[in-house]
Amino acid sequence: MQHFASDNYAGICPEALAALIAANAGHAPAYGDDDWTRRVSDRLRALFDTDCDVYFAFNGTAANSLALASLCQSYHSVVCHELAHVDTDECGGPEFFSNGSKLLPAKGEHGKLTPEAVREVVARRSDIHYPKPRVVTLTQATEVGTVYRVDEIAAIADLAHASGLRVHMDGARFANAVAALGVSPAEITWRAGVDVLCFGGTKMGLPVGEAVVFFDRALSEDFAWRCKQAGQLASKMRFLSAPWLGMLEDGAWLRHAAHANAMARRLADGLAAIPAARLLFPVEANGVFAELPPALIDGLRARGWRFYTFIGAGGARFMCAWDTQPDSVDALLADLRELAG
Ligand SMILES: Cc1ncc(COP(=O)(O)O)c(C=O)c1O
Repeated sequence: MQHFASDNYAGICPEALAALIAANAGHAPAYGDDDWTRRVSDRLRALFDTDCDVYFAFNGTAANSLALASLCQSYHSVVCHELAHVDTDECGGPEFFSNGSKLLPAKGEHGKLTPEAVREVVARRSDIHYPKPRVVTLTQATEVGTVYRVDEIAAIADLAHASGLRVHMDGARFANAVAALGVSPAEITWRAGVDVLCFGGTKMGLPVGEAVVFFDRALSEDFAWRCKQAGQLASKMRFLSAPWLGMLEDGAWLRHAAHANAMARRLADGLAAIPAARLLFPVEANGVFAELPPALIDGLRARGWRFYTFIGAGGARFMCAWDTQPDSVDALLADLRELAG
């Protein structure tokens, strides 16, 4: 039985697994000084069409926390959406690793910040008693399964830069957003004004690991030491980096993300036809959020389905992954229809 609780429930995709196994041959230098890590970093530079700095961390919380810490002094603040994972689901990691930089949540429809919302937070105060705004962080795709368009990112980034702020992107589901929008990775990041991207690998189908991509290379100064101190420097780095090669080599990353998005679309279309269910947000990536009567939620759980009801703005969250099968979506929908009577 496949589950819809998280895209983290899925295993390793075949392309990543093959690259992982290939990297297991023989000895290789440790701590990132190996050919695999070099090749993947070069592939990421080619993918983004720019000479960016690339680092690898074990998970998204560390990638976000350390990236934000590299942009902030302890007296700075980070403007984020009120549903942002960095604020709601990282156990204070960004504040901890930045020695206290404060997160300033802002509201926005469909999980997205707007220039107006950012301006309101930034302009709220400029006195010495207020933590000085230094970063705007955007989640792409958002915590509620929507995506920022290029012009939306550019408008926020223009405002941020004009106000002396940097732009960080939590791209735990960056692949799903790129697949949904059909844009180039460069267009939706540095060309739109993103300074640092945490490019999610785990949800894409890797065994573990995220890439931290600094488009503004001046910001990555000492980042390697930051990673080491935080316990995020893998000694056998090739096993963190090599799976990326399998993903990037023939576009598997986009293929799998597009598949996950298509499965979410299939689920959303099915849900829309069930009167007892109400979709809560536009379904633009690989997540579907629905309001369901409690009896339906209990009924699904009693039949063994796993999904979350504590994420984002509430409702039941169904995530699709690179390996979600149409039959699994249809089986979930069949149970939903039956339970709804
Ligand atoms: C939006 C977002 N950012 C980051 C992460 C990464 O978190 P983790 O530390 O669990 O890898 C997640 C995982 O659920 C997420 O949904």
